[in-house]
Amino acid sequence: MDVDELKKLLSEIKTDVKARIGELASLEKLRQLESQIVGKKGRLGELLGSIGKFPKEARGSVGQVLNSAKKEVAELFQTRRTALQASESAADSKAGVTADPTLPGLPRNVGSVHPVTAVQWEVEEIFERLGFTIETGPEMESDYYNFEALNIPAWHPARDMQDTFWLENGMLLRTHTSPVQIRAMEKFGPPLRCIVPGRCFRYETIDASHENTFHQCEGLMIDKGISVANLIAVMKLLLREVFHRDVAIRLRPGYFPFVEPGFELDMSCMICNGDGCATCKKSGWIEILPCGMVHPNVLKCGGIDPHEYTGFAFGLGLTRLAMMKYGIRDIRIMNSGDLRGLVHPERLCGPLIGTRQC
Ligand code: PHE
Repeated sequence: MDVDELKKLLSEIKTDVKARIGELASLEKLRQLESQIVGKKGRLGELLGSIGKFPKEARGSVGQVLNSAKKEVAELFQTRRTALQASESAADSKAGVTADPTLPGLPRNVGSVHPVTAVQWEVEEIFERLGFTIETGPEMESDYYNFEALNIPAWHPARDMQDTFWLENGMLLRTHTSPVQIRAMEKFGPPLRCIVPGRCFRYETIDASHENTFHQCEGLMIDKGISVANLIAVMKLLLREVFHRDVAIRLRPGYFPFVEPGFELDMSCMICNGDGCATCKKSGWIEILPCGMVHPNVLKCGGIDPHEYTGFAFGLGLTRLAMMKYGIRDIRIMNSGDLRGLVHPERLCGPLIGTRQC
């Protein structure tokens, strides 16, 4: 047989397959025909095995011809198989065959809110009970609200404390939720009680404890006669509610241009109960939030007379709080979309998330 005869034979086989394949009514019949044609003893199968019988110099082109025929025939069978599978399964489900009530059920992943959202809702609920309103502000801010009105003029070295994403339009991505202090003062005037949960951005290199996108919750209370005592009382209540137990706190001096005096508020470490462990670096205390009494210049910028009114402000790190509450050791998990943190918050463990026992 020469190559031309082979081609003719192959085309007869293809025509034959095409003619018969459409009439096949079941997958079983299709399998039978396939083995009759392509199987070792099938018409095409035998030809495929006969390449060695051709003269050496013809084997290259014979191989090509055979291979392309094999591919075409395989495609014909596959197309028909897909069609038959679809119609058989449709017929099965019509007859109710697919649902087997005795099979064990598939495990279902029940989703839940993101840990930051969970903590945010909790904090909102606590402050709503205290008569605080929940405010929001723009994530794209002006220099004025983010810095200037917060007593951080352009020349102030404190600007270096918050590496900023500047935008081409001269605006910036807010580095904290504090700009909403001014916006709230302008909008409502005194007396004033509000919290401002929201996203903030800093030009940070990301590692286990730094993110360029994170959540804060600003707090602001302004009235006649507000003092540090009010600040301490509210902070103690907040921590007791969040951690479901009384938490010892202490205030250390801290510098933020928009508060005077300014503090870093520490809480006793809830992992070692203040005895000292790796998480609190053996000190027994964990830095939990910066706060202070609103600076008179800031009150003035917000249109409030600092001789008549005083107030406190705090900046709760919601991302940080969520990490502490759920024992998440790596901040990168928060924006990663890793569903282990959402589907089973109680299973927040493993190398990426932390070493909490669960
Ligand atoms: N906005 C400050 C920060 O992000 C935190 C802060 C808020 C400090 C309110 C004092 C009072 O660093």
